[in-house]
Amino acid sequence: AIMLVGGLVQTPGIANAAEKSETETAVWSREDAQNYNLNKENTAPDIDNVDQVAPDYWVWDTWPLRNRDGSIATVNGYKIVFALTASKEYTWSGRHDEAKIRYFYSKNGKDWEMGGLSYDPDKALGSRQWAGSAMMEEDGKVHLFYTASGRKGEESTTFEQRLAKTTFDIDVDKKDKSVELSNHGEHMILAEADGEYYETQDQKTGDIIYSFRDPWFFKDPKTKKEYIIFEGNSAGYEKTLDPENIGSEEFRKDHEVPAGAEDYNGNVGIASAENEDLTEFELLPPLLEADGVNQQLERPHVLVKGGQYYLFTISHQFTFAPGLNGPDGLYGFVNDSLRGDYQPLNDNGLVVANPEDDPFMTYSHAVMPNGTVISFVNEYIDENGNKQLGGTFAPTIKLSINGDETKVNGTLKPGQIIPSH
Ligand code: FRU
Repeated sequence: AIMLVGGLVQTPGIANAAEKSETETAVWSREDAQNYNLNKENTAPDIDNVDQVAPDYWVWDTWPLRNRDGSIATVNGYKIVFALTASKEYTWSGRHDEAKIRYFYSKNGKDWEMGGLSYDPDKALGSRQWAGSAMMEEDGKVHLFYTASGRKGEESTTFEQRLAKTTFDIDVDKKDKSVELSNHGEHMILAEADGEYYETQDQKTGDIIYSFRDPWFFKDPKTKKEYIIFEGNSAGYEKTLDPENIGSEEFRKDHEVPAGAEDYNGNVGIASAENEDLTEFELLPPLLEADGVNQQLERPHVLVKGGQYYLFTISHQFTFAPGLNGPDGLYGFVNDSLRGDYQPLNDNGLVVANPEDDPFMTYSHAVMPNGTVISFVNEYIDENGNKQLGGTFAPTIKLSINGDETKVNGTLKPGQIIPSH
């Protein structure tokens, strides 16, 4: 894509991380996205039965309440997670059209109690609210970032997506032993697809839903600058792939790119916070693009470990461009600063896949600051070989991260966000 030409392509020699420009976009190429072989180190242990965390609700994308520095927050001894939820009166696939964000609380970070809705749905933006993130300031004020999908009151479901936010206070009711939200603030739009860096719905080609969603708050520990990172699609190119989207000269010699691959243009978007209150953001060129490789780089988030920046995102088998074949699961990249030439972890980016005989078992993985990975149970095959619906927290995966390699190291309890002491 054109926007990266000034960065990566023309100035590959820049070595100093601090000098790297604010506009450099890393590329996940077709050459990178090869050889997805499953093994013990990249495969989630099998699930054959589940306990429902909220039996009346479908529960899927989940994220913890974090402090401004990204660490997991504690509210008077309680951990909090937010999740997309919908009443089980709706069908499993219909849940996306009814999604609302509810919160759960727990003292030990593994036995979760549902608190309730995180806001008044009549005041929220969009006809439903999709994934986001949550950050608590030192005075206890929470910023809940979310995706406003569609428009309030629309007659049939539409798919516009805008990055939104609301605020509230969070407190523990000591008598009731519960966590309560109060002092709800306005809902506001923080960013919309601009058609220049980020594709709008009108610019979309191909059959898969476009994306401008899943805002994740991130404060860069090195520069102290604040951002939201999100799932986008690339705009500003004529849907023809650049050589670097395909790969090295050697690879390009005998790699055939099937027609239609150019419609798959997922990216990891980024916008910088322009004020302390986090009410104004400026769209920057994407952190990473997967033009010609994958349509959806969902729920992207960054973790800094040992001075390295780990960029994680979830993706699907069906969103890989024609001719490529990666599994549903968690993918990741590493770089020495927030912007720059991210390299895929484990060579091709795959971090956690579902088992080969249960390929859609879990989804929507999020890596916690301590390397544990939460996700939700999607559709799984039970011990009798029957397909079951999940809609609840999946067993947490322990992940070890070493340089540019990761390893699945067993599981913890469903929804457990911190390892036991
Ligand atoms: C991932 C996802 C998110 C979106 C949500 C909608 O599971 O596709 O990108 O916010 O689901 O239900």
